[in-house]
Amino acid sequence: MQPYQPAPYPTARFRRMRGSPSLRALARESTLSVDDLIWPLFVMDGINSETPVPSMPGVSRLTVDRAVAAAETAAELGISAVCVFPYTDPNLKSELCEEAWNPDNLSNRAARAIKKAVPEIAVMTDIALDPYNTHGHDGIVRDGLVLNDETVEALVRMALSQAEAGSDILGPSDMMDGRIGAIRSALESAGYANVAILSYAAKYSSAFYGPFRDAVGAGGALIGDKNTYQMDPGNSDEALRLVARDLAEGADMVMVKPGLPYLDIVRRVKDTFGVPTFAYQVSGEYAMLKQAGLNGWIDGHKAMMESLLAFRRAGCDGILTYFAPEAARALRP
Ligand code: PBG
Repeated sequence: MQPYQPAPYPTARFRRMRGSPSLRALARESTLSVDDLIWPLFVMDGINSETPVPSMPGVSRLTVDRAVAAAETAAELGISAVCVFPYTDPNLKSELCEEAWNPDNLSNRAARAIKKAVPEIAVMTDIALDPYNTHGHDGIVRDGLVLNDETVEALVRMALSQAEAGSDILGPSDMMDGRIGAIRSALESAGYANVAILSYAAKYSSAFYGPFRDAVGAGGALIGDKNTYQMDPGNSDEALRLVARDLAEGADMVMVKPGLPYLDIVRRVKDTFGVPTFAYQVSGEYAMLKQAGLNGWIDGHKAMMESLLAFRRAGCDGILTYFAPEAARALRP
């Protein structure tokens, strides 16, 4: 920015440019478009049904056929991508999380079905072990410790099975060290050079994930917290080191998570690296905005659109948000 002193009043009257919708539109620095939206979907077993997630009013777990219908709607609305999260049958959960790389697991079935029906929409899938074990941690646990290197091996298997199922974007959300490099080199060797990685590079250990853990059935079960692998909310420089590391290891895009409480991190990441930068408006943020709106305490729709614009203003290229279809409808010309 140039050093610049605004002219004194009344030469400068800032209200001139706020005087009408068209002048405000001309001067607006940041805008939101459907291109910027990624819609997270929860999938479950079964046919033609859905189960509402109580802590996320308006969000349901969908059977694969309904997830395909949701992806069709998303494509019609112009949403760029959907992101699949599985609600895994408790009987399929195990200590070593083998279901995570089953070629026919729920996530892979959903990815395949969506790519077949709606090839134009990008499908993102999540890489982390929490839907596949009974303790709710993102990695393999032994003697109460979340193991790093053993988990990375499992994540690589998971990544390859997702690439094979047709995922366009892999989203490692686990926060193990070294997983981006390991996944990237496995993808190269296995012939999946063009599969993109959106690294959850700066993912904080946050209380805002509560409703999500209910949605994927990992909530009640979580033993302890995720503080030994997710970031400390007091840290900011560390986020830049993590982003630098993940980019060097082969991430194409990076994410900051949660969203609104961490927009300062988004701004630093965008300014420092200038790479495709995303944020996740997580389940707890959704729940707060949605329920306050339903209670009539705020105008929920306006607050939601304002929050998404705030992500853009902070430097986000895109936003993962459960509001994606509602926002996309509002953005329709
Ligand atoms: C787990 C994962 C979480 C979210 C996405 N992937 C929760 C967690 O780390 O416990 C949270 C998303 C949300 O809250 O909407 N790998």
